[in-house]
Amino acid sequence: MKRILALLALSFLVQITVSAQVYKDKNAPIESRIKDLVSKMTFEEKVLQLNQYLSGNNTNVNNIGEAIKLIPSGIGSLIYFSTDPVLRNQIQKKAMEESRLGIPILFGFDVIHGFRTVFPISLAQACSWNPELVTQACRVAAKEARLSGVDWTFSPLIDVARDPRWGRVSEGYGEDPYTNAVFGVATVKGYQGKSLSDPYSVAACLKHYIGYGMSQGGRDYHSSDISAQSLWETYMPPYEACVKAGAATLMSSFNDISGVPATANHYTLTEILKDRWKHDGFVVSDWDAINQLIAQGVAKDRKEAGLKAFMAGVEMDMKDNIYLENFKQLVDEKKIPMRKIDDAVSRVLRVKFRLGLFDHPYTDVVAESARYLETGSKAIALKLATESMVLLKNNSKTLPLTALTKQIALIGPMAKDKSNLLGSWSGHGYASDVVSIFEGLEKELGNKAKINYAKGCDFDSLAETGFNEAISAAQKSDVILVCLGERKQWTGENASRSTIALPAIQEKLVLELKKTGKPIVLILSNGRPLELARLEPLADAIVEIWQPGIAGGSALSGILSGRTNPSGKLSITFPLTTGQIPVYYDMRQSSRPNSGKYQDIPTEPLYWFGHGLSYTTFTYGKLNLSATKLKKTEKLTVEVEVSNTGEVSGTETVLWYIADPACSISRPMKELKHFEKKELAAGAKSVFRFEIDPARDLSYTDGNGKRFLEAGEYYVVVNNQKVKFEIE
Ligand code: BGC
Repeated sequence: MKRILALLALSFLVQITVSAQVYKDKNAPIESRIKDLVSKMTFEEKVLQLNQYLSGNNTNVNNIGEAIKLIPSGIGSLIYFSTDPVLRNQIQKKAMEESRLGIPILFGFDVIHGFRTVFPISLAQACSWNPELVTQACRVAAKEARLSGVDWTFSPLIDVARDPRWGRVSEGYGEDPYTNAVFGVATVKGYQGKSLSDPYSVAACLKHYIGYGMSQGGRDYHSSDISAQSLWETYMPPYEACVKAGAATLMSSFNDISGVPATANHYTLTEILKDRWKHDGFVVSDWDAINQLIAQGVAKDRKEAGLKAFMAGVEMDMKDNIYLENFKQLVDEKKIPMRKIDDAVSRVLRVKFRLGLFDHPYTDVVAESARYLETGSKAIALKLATESMVLLKNNSKTLPLTALTKQIALIGPMAKDKSNLLGSWSGHGYASDVVSIFEGLEKELGNKAKINYAKGCDFDSLAETGFNEAISAAQKSDVILVCLGERKQWTGENASRSTIALPAIQEKLVLELKKTGKPIVLILSNGRPLELARLEPLADAIVEIWQPGIAGGSALSGILSGRTNPSGKLSITFPLTTGQIPVYYDMRQSSRPNSGKYQDIPTEPLYWFGHGLSYTTFTYGKLNLSATKLKKTEKLTVEVEVSNTGEVSGTETVLWYIADPACSISRPMKELKHFEKKELAAGAKSVFRFEIDPARDLSYTDGNGKRFLEAGEYYVVVNNQKVKFEIE
């Protein structure tokens, strides 16, 4: 009997020990591990998981760092400003060994368009119309980040942005909801890979949820008055698509949505995100965004701000410490139910489990030389930079430069610049990794032509002392390449501008160079559309190179020499002047389409969304529809044959739009629904295809996300063609 009792006691002990290990058992289902762990946590341990601290060198000038020694071992997350895996491992060791339950810390960082291998800014990436390539770039960024101790990136930014005065227009994919959705999904796929548990995947964070791109007047951090209709029609689609694609986390935005701050918005954060879309990861606040609920006028103090943000659905407090300071009291006062805390903690832990952090908390320490800038990664940077550049103008075949070009004047503040080509939020990129325009050109054409360099002027100083040197360089040359643009700090966060024109000194330089009578090629590097009203008439050709990252100079020189044929098309409209803002392709129709124009300037922008030239010509055949009448449940195939009618091989992207001129609500003039990109050899033709799924492509949303598909006439719009069909 004694033996039996002893055996029973032993088996009981074994059971307890086994159940005590569930959260550590890598073979147990994640949900069981979460449940087990949460059941073992104290209140204080739970609240710590909902807070994010800072560590490493804070390189963001808008933010202020804290000392590492203040980091509690049980903290949920850190923003990791360092690139040192050893330091990360030391901090992680503290969490694994000094905290009672050994919960790993989640290390986050803003990896926006590359970590060390810096790719073009996101706005430029979208001009490539090559989402697969963007996925590859994000895969590189994820690997470099992970090897440097970062598990979580605060990217992609999928705020549809239609006001180029807003500095953050550079960080997203332009003015169109569909484009933001497609490139957002491509980015999430790149960061998260096939599985978050892949050692080279990082968790994505969709930001800024939601409506930040609508900041009034382009002023950063400002109020955004968004109707329920535009919230759903314009701002929600990229988020919905990326949540469906499995994005692990989201970040709440600084703005309000018609009076209710996005960081305290129960409707968007809980009713839509969690209840309707079933997102089971977590939401982190933006930097200080919870505290800022006081400035926004919806909370009287930090405690109320914390209560509002948390109850609305923000699970993690980015660096404010508000949750840490106030949750004990708020729970004691029964303002926050414990089940809500448990749900929030479970969401944070879920992301950590999915990333495999419990089983592999430490970063492999690999020599720095093996971590970054692999040959394949640089090749992706070059390809993406090349494909994202847009030939805006090319009169009389000024470009590509021909063999007759023996002397090239290379002028302007951007010509030898490296740092500004990186753009804002350039991760841990180094200016020394960048191929400048001058270096690229020297390598490409240095043995065929003489390059006469002169800076001419600075970006924005008033000094004209460099003009004479620039003019004499121009006089002895066959062509003038003028490299102008924006410093990288002129876009990005807290970098709004009242005018999108370049500083007068840069325009004046071109005016002086024009007097030489030599052909002028403008090369523009900037993070937003520019006002080119005065510059465009002075230029024979214009190449928009954006902020192209490390391979900028090489990519551009390939285009200038004709070794590569430009194929980028704008992901955002270039207004003629700042006064035209807002102007975007999918505006709603006017009640008097032929009047209401500006009296002092043209009403049309300089370059519409989708504009971009090539060195070859593409001729479109007639649109061919598989039917002109169909039922709501039937599909329609539309085809167009495109021929390369020029002399060189080229790549064309066909942008497919839908228009619905008579509906229960007034709809945008046209809406992009599909695109396809193909390379065509000179003389070759190919059929481009779009299969219209009426429920997906023709329906419209109401102000609560409910979709309607109406019978009636629709148009498919491609290039200059518009063909009618009918839904019965
Ligand atoms: C920005 C976010 C960024 C965060 C962390 C904030 O100021 O708005 O986009 O992810 O800082 O650096």
